[in-house]
Amino acid sequence: MDLKKVERVYSNYASVYDHIFGRLFHEGRESAVRNLEVKPGERVLEVGVGTGLSLPLYPSHCRVTGIDLSDGMLDKARGRTAAQGLVHVELHQMDAGNMKFTDDSFDTVVAAYVVTAVPDYRSVVAEMIRVCRAGGRIILLNHFSNGNKLIAAVEKFISPLCKHIGFRTDLALHHVLEGTSLRVARKDMVNPLRLWHLVECINHKNGANHAPNNGSRPHSH
Ligand SMILES: C[S@@+](CC[C@H](N)C(=O)[O-])C[C@H]1O[C@@H](n2cnc3c(N)ncnc32)[C@H](O)[C@@H]1O
Repeated sequence: MDLKKVERVYSNYASVYDHIFGRLFHEGRESAVRNLEVKPGERVLEVGVGTGLSLPLYPSHCRVTGIDLSDGMLDKARGRTAAQGLVHVELHQMDAGNMKFTDDSFDTVVAAYVVTAVPDYRSVVAEMIRVCRAGGRIILLNHFSNGNKLIAAVEKFISPLCKHIGFRTDLALHHVLEGTSLRVARKDMVNPLRLWHLVECINHKNGANHAPNNGSRPHSH
C-alpha cells in the first residue's frame, strides 16, 4: 500500500477504530506505558498514535508528541486530548518514514501496532532510531510472525487480505531489527492468546555502548 492509500484506509476506519481495536488491544498499550516508568520531563514520541487510545495512560509529568499520517485518526486523538485536558500532549500530522524532527529529539519512541501497518517499515524504524537519542528506548508493540509453522502458514494466507484493511501479518521481529542499532532489553507477550510482542529496545546508535536508563531494566525471556 502507498501512503495515500494508508491515509485513506485509516481515515475511513477512524469512527469505528476504537470499537474494534480499543479494548481488544488495550492490555498491550497499558503494559507498554506501565513498563516505561516514565520520568519527569521525559520526551516521548508515539508514532502512528491513531485515535490516541494510549495518550491518557502517560503521566502528566512527561511530554508526549503523537504523530500520524491519517487526519481522520488524528481528529479523534485531538478530541480525546481536549476532552481529557491532556495539556502535556501535542499532535502532528506527519509521515513516520520522513519525520520533521531533528536528530535525538526524544528519549523514548513508541510504535504501538504500527510497524506492520506502514508501507515501508524499514524507513519508519530508521527514522525512529534517528529521532531517538543514543541510549534512549524504542518500544515496538506488535504482532510479529513467529517460528510456529501452523501459525506462519495461516499468517501468510491471510496477509494479502489484511493488507487491504491496513496491516500485514507476516513480518518477523528479526527482520525489523536486523542491520539496525537496536538491542532488545526486554520482551513480553501480551493481549489475547499472548500473540502480540511488547519489545523494549535500547538505541545503540553511533556505536556507543549505553546502559539502559529512564527506569529501563535488562529483562529477557
Ligand atoms: C493499527 S493503527 C494503531 C493506532 C494506535 N497506535 C493504537 O494503539 O491503536 C496504525 C496507525 O498507523 C498510522 N500510520 C500508518 N502509516 C503511517 C505512516 N507512514 N506515518 C504515520 N502514521 C502512519 C495509521 O494512520 C494508523 O493510525
